[in-house]
Amino acid sequence: MNLTDTYTLPNGIKIPVMGYGTWQVTDPKEAVDGVVNAVKEGYRHIDTAQMYGNEEYIGKGIKECGVPREELFVTSKLNNSNHGYEKAKKTIQESLDRLGLDYLDLFLIHWPVVKDNGGDWQQDNIDTWRALEDMYEEGKLKAIGVSNFGIPHLENIVENSRIKPMVNQIRLHPGVLQEDTVEMSRDQNMVIEAWSPLSPMKYMEEDTKVQAMTSEYGKSIAQILLRWSLQQGFVVLTKSVHTDRIKENADIFDFELSDGDMAYLNSLKFEDLSKPEDLKAR
Ligand SMILES: NC(=O)c1ccc[n+]([C@@H]2O[C@H](COP(=O)([O-])OP(=O)(O)OC[C@H]3O[C@@H](n4cnc5c(N)ncnc54)[C@H](OP(=O)(O)O)[C@@H]3O)[C@@H](O)[C@H]2O)c1
Repeated sequence: MNLTDTYTLPNGIKIPVMGYGTWQVTDPKEAVDGVVNAVKEGYRHIDTAQMYGNEEYIGKGIKECGVPREELFVTSKLNNSNHGYEKAKKTIQESLDRLGLDYLDLFLIHWPVVKDNGGDWQQDNIDTWRALEDMYEEGKLKAIGVSNFGIPHLENIVENSRIKPMVNQIRLHPGVLQEDTVEMSRDQNMVIEAWSPLSPMKYMEEDTKVQAMTSEYGKSIAQILLRWSLQQGFVVLTKSVHTDRIKENADIFDFELSDGDMAYLNSLKFEDLSKPEDLKAR
């Protein structure tokens, strides 16, 4: 496997196994340079969102990176304030305009509306999803999916829509395994994308077993975490604005964590990272 290897979505679209994340990259130069450098290092998959406020600069990076559009896989996501059929359709087109693209390879509902928010959360999610379905059928979105959807949100869409989500992008790393959601998503043929894969890094620095792994494999803790994600079969999304780290994070295809090390990483719990609030829809 390497950086440009892909999984196949249920509609036949190929998604590269590793994506360059752009959350919290708000400085225009960092955003443009980040994309250009990531593509230079071999990344072909870029993940942005309306919420990140950087689509314009990510689009500029895509234009400047020197690789033809059709060789890149670009994802964006619907902001929470843009739910609803009409608003979703309108703002998806605005995303395309900001990015300077004719189509997106993947578009996601960033967060579901949840029960606690009051109102008819189920109908809201269905109406919003219908906008994605229509834009998919118009060819403006090559694939469509969801993000941060738990089991009730997935069931609602699967039971009430004509096209099933092809992807569920959720928080996943040692300490946050979301096994039931992963299982349900996979049962419905969705590809799972893992966000914030590096969040346990600082906790793992003090772990002697993890330290032993870094010597045994000759890899950093970041690389061990990203490799864990890959071996779980997730599309791994990772972000850095530093070229040396962009490179380091892509250098995870020449080693394999043993079953014992995978089991150890799966057993880790980090009190601060596993709070249900972190996973709750906003
Ligand atoms: N759907 C959602 O709700 C959702 C939520 C969160 C994230 N995401 C997506 O998933 C992507 C990945 O998540 P994330 O941004 O939280 O990324 P991450 O890759 O887990 O962590 C990024 C952080 O780690 C640092 N870092 C990166 N590589 C490093 C390395 N080799 N050694 C030490 N530190 C390193 C980065 O700092 P520097 O940049 O300074 O290097 C940054 O502070 C996001 O960018 C976004 O595209 C989606």
